[in-house]
Amino acid sequence: MEKVVSGIRPTGNLHLGNYFGAVKSFVKMQDDYDCMFFIADWHSLTTHPKPENIQQSVRTILAEYMACGIDPQKAPIYVQSDVKETLELYLFLNMNAYLGELERVTTFKEKARKQPDNVNAGLLTYPTLMAADILQHRAAKVPVGKDQEQNMEMARKCARRFNHIYGVEFFPEPQNFYFSEKALKVPGLDGSGKMGKSEGNCIYLRDDDKTITKKVMKAVTDSGPQEPNSQKPEVIENLFTFLRIASTEDTYNYFDEKWNDCTLRYGDLKKQIAADLCSIVAPIRQRIEEYSANTELLDRIAREGADRARESASATLKEVRRIVGFRS
Ligand code: TRP
Repeated sequence: MEKVVSGIRPTGNLHLGNYFGAVKSFVKMQDDYDCMFFIADWHSLTTHPKPENIQQSVRTILAEYMACGIDPQKAPIYVQSDVKETLELYLFLNMNAYLGELERVTTFKEKARKQPDNVNAGLLTYPTLMAADILQHRAAKVPVGKDQEQNMEMARKCARRFNHIYGVEFFPEPQNFYFSEKALKVPGLDGSGKMGKSEGNCIYLRDDDKTITKKVMKAVTDSGPQEPNSQKPEVIENLFTFLRIASTEDTYNYFDEKWNDCTLRYGDLKKQIAADLCSIVAPIRQRIEEYSANTELLDRIAREGADRARESASATLKEVRRIVGFRS
């Protein structure tokens, strides 16, 4: 089975956009690939030198991903900072990474602009740490969003350059694995494009039925269908997207007909969406609560994940040391 590795940024609780996007794809991938997931806590130091409650957010991520269906037996989850082998590869890769190319990375330039008082070396070498995350497992594929393209290009460059400098065929070039094309895009409830944390329009997997219903009932609409069989404006299309995501085809068709003959009442449509979203989220929320209460289990999952990651990384490092000319 091909190896797949992906990092998870510790950025707050999962919402429906994450769930129907990355997380469901991860859950599917764990059956088809040899997957490993990790929580990129070192990376978060590049922008947040004093992480608040990092232990707690690690447990939250573990609980939420497992509640969504990640099975650590199939796909180990580990915490980046538990696997020190990564640092040694990071050092080797940094020795062959050049200031000019690192400075040209768009995300570096953006972050340097956003935090001019903290343009630290970690920020500059973010791509080589990411390359080490991937190359230490000699992964074939990395599920990433469009925003990670340049970092992935750097990871391939690191692999290629290492092979070239030392005259070996050791690191495979990791390929981007786009799930976002196939994944469902969850719209915002405020009429805006997509559901996202920075947009402040999220339904979280931790939300209870009442909260979900309240959020859905507040969704932006218009004055209602005016002419039979007219095209739906974006805000209404968004509501129908929720039906497509959460409801049965019959339910979708029922409301679509009502739209077409101008008898649709948005209140009914929203009630239906809220009820169907609740029935998706409720069992996940319950599992999140169960896992969250079991810190012993969560800590054990992270420990076992780290053991498996270390095993894979130390085999790579042993070879790397030998190839570079150090004692292995
Ligand atoms: N840079 C990724 C992001 O911002 C997170 C990440 C760190 C990552 N290391 C990785 C993703 C390795 C994939 C593989 O989302």
